[in-house]
Amino acid sequence: MRRYVIAGNWKMNMTPNGAKALINEMKPLVAGKDNCDVVLCVPAIDIPAAVEAAKGSNIKIGAENVHFKASGAYTGEISAEMLCEAGVEYVVIGHSERRQYFGETDQTVNLRTLAALNAGLKAIVCVGETLEQRELGYTETLLKFQTKMALTNVTAEQMKNVIIAYEPVWAIGTGVTATADQADEGNGYVRAAVAEMFGAEVAEATTVQYGGSMNDKNAAELLSKENVDGGLIGGASLKSAAFAAIVEAAQ
Ligand code: 13P
Repeated sequence: MRRYVIAGNWKMNMTPNGAKALINEMKPLVAGKDNCDVVLCVPAIDIPAAVEAAKGSNIKIGAENVHFKASGAYTGEISAEMLCEAGVEYVVIGHSERRQYFGETDQTVNLRTLAALNAGLKAIVCVGETLEQRELGYTETLLKFQTKMALTNVTAEQMKNVIIAYEPVWAIGTGVTATADQADEGNGYVRAAVAEMFGAEVAEATTVQYGGSMNDKNAAELLSKENVDGGLIGGASLKSAAFAAIVEAAQ
């Protein structure tokens, strides 16, 4: 049985003080909701405050990116070892905003994924088609390609620490959510790609999230779908009640 994972992605929001306050608000609301893992992926500067605030709760802390080299002359970057030592357990890799604005490619997504897994982090690998790619009929091709590129040289054993988030680019931050059937279909393409690489057993055990305008209103329907094993949540993860309602929907 695969595990539901409800993860917030705060993007470039919240200062360390804000992080502390929001996590303190969320803790009692998500306490005991053990049918899913509850994760908050926060800006790097917020990590120490977030880890401290989440101590003793069921909230786990993630980062929003990781560099693929262990150390060296990479100004502004953060290594997997640094994240681990800071108490981070998860890391978002290859978010469409990083692909769109920061030159992230399928190859660097793969390198970051390998670095995260080799350090013992859980990787939340993001894939997703643009509206243009969808309209041209390339959704399946694109999702399978991105998934396979991201997982190149990952071992079947390491797949236990891989979560894949299907985030259609046209649904991110737009208020336009994919329908539950579209989410299920996209997640199904991702799972099929995992099956082609690692076999059916690994594919069945892999958590595939949906992300893109998931909120307290639509979460239950999205999460009811066979292939939707959780959510990667942007805007709604900045509001304690909305995020807690999504965690509740995963129960
Ligand atoms: P929104 O939930 O704000 O659409 O963001 C989704 C997302 O990009 C999560 O990584």
